[in-house]
Amino acid sequence: MKAVVLGAAGGIGQPLSLLLKTNPHITDLGLFDIVNTPGVAADLSHIATPAVVVGRLPPDDGLKAVLTGADIVVIPAGVPRKPGVNRDDLFKINGGIVKDLATGIASFAPKAFVLVISNPVNSTVPIVAEVFKKHGVYDPKRIFGVTTLDVVRASTFVAELIGTPGAAPDVVVPVVGGHSGVTIVPLLSQSTHALPADLSADAFAALVKRIQFGGDEVVKAKDGAGSATLSMAYAGAEFAGKVIRALKGETGIVAPSFVALAADAAGGKALAAEIGADLEFFSANVELGKEGVVKIHALGKLTGAEAELVKAAVPELATNIKTGVTYVLDKY
Ligand code: NAD
Ligand code: LMR
Repeated sequence: MKAVVLGAAGGIGQPLSLLLKTNPHITDLGLFDIVNTPGVAADLSHIATPAVVVGRLPPDDGLKAVLTGADIVVIPAGVPRKPGVNRDDLFKINGGIVKDLATGIASFAPKAFVLVISNPVNSTVPIVAEVFKKHGVYDPKRIFGVTTLDVVRASTFVAELIGTPGAAPDVVVPVVGGHSGVTIVPLLSQSTHALPADLSADAFAALVKRIQFGGDEVVKAKDGAGSATLSMAYAGAEFAGKVIRALKGETGIVAPSFVALAADAAGGKALAAEIGADLEFFSANVELGKEGVVKIHALGKLTGAEAELVKAAVPELATNIKTGVTYVLDKY
């Protein structure tokens, strides 16, 4: 099992690579960045776990070397936010980075599962898909936008609110839509742990807003030094771990991810009917298997408030998706 991290020397890349090095299923770990990967690889290589670590830089075909033989490629390469910057503002720089890296994956590891962390996820995932289409290697079942941090935050914030922070690992809240602001839609009515019956409307609205804008809390606290890195590394390793378990044959693993609705024609069609829009991508609960997406789950029964949140997410998602698609089409 070969896992590769593109952007491995960064704020997310380093702790994510550390967590992947501790995954006992991974036998090879390839690290690529434009700086510092030999050092990060040397450091990680002293950890007594199975993965053999190699770190490469762009010269001398570094990207080709790390990608060759990859089963799973995680992409946290790109610039992070600072206060006053929104995720879409990152597109100008990150769009090009993701397009170039996707070109490398399409060329050297076209069958790998691709997990996109670089923001804006709602646009960078469509970039990867379009690049793969251009190279004739597109398989919608294998490309995933990583929205796990929203799920992790929802678990934490709900556990805090119900007064049992220790229960956070067991609290499961589906978070659907996309990964930015109002496109992040927590389905709190489907939480495994019920919210307090006497929760006021204002407190409920504040919880939804905190999940949607949790990233801003970290950006503000880091005060110019970037955005979430450690919690993202945890979330990225969680999701990568599930994908790896599915690749190894475990069945019944379900997790939210931003995927192409074409990954499961029937499920995608049913989901499009539920959201009342013909979007190419949406984050929903997805069942994972050896070939990638096995099934896109329906959103299920929504409250009136949740239906309103989905409605509010759709136009922004449509714009974000178009931005990614157009960016690639304009380049060819
Ligand atoms: P960072 O600046 O600390 O690290 C980014 C790394 O990418 C750097 O090491 C840089 O050298 C590398 N890089 C730049 N261009 C590259 C290229 N062409 N090839 C390979 N590597 C390249 O940033 P970070 O805090 O790690 O954040 C990375 C990205 O992840 C940002 O876009 C951020 O917005 C995003 N992010 C997403 C989520 C999510 O939930 N999906 C959460 C947090 C951050
Ligand atoms: C997050 O949700 O923390 C990330 O998308 C980073 C950001 O820019 O907020």
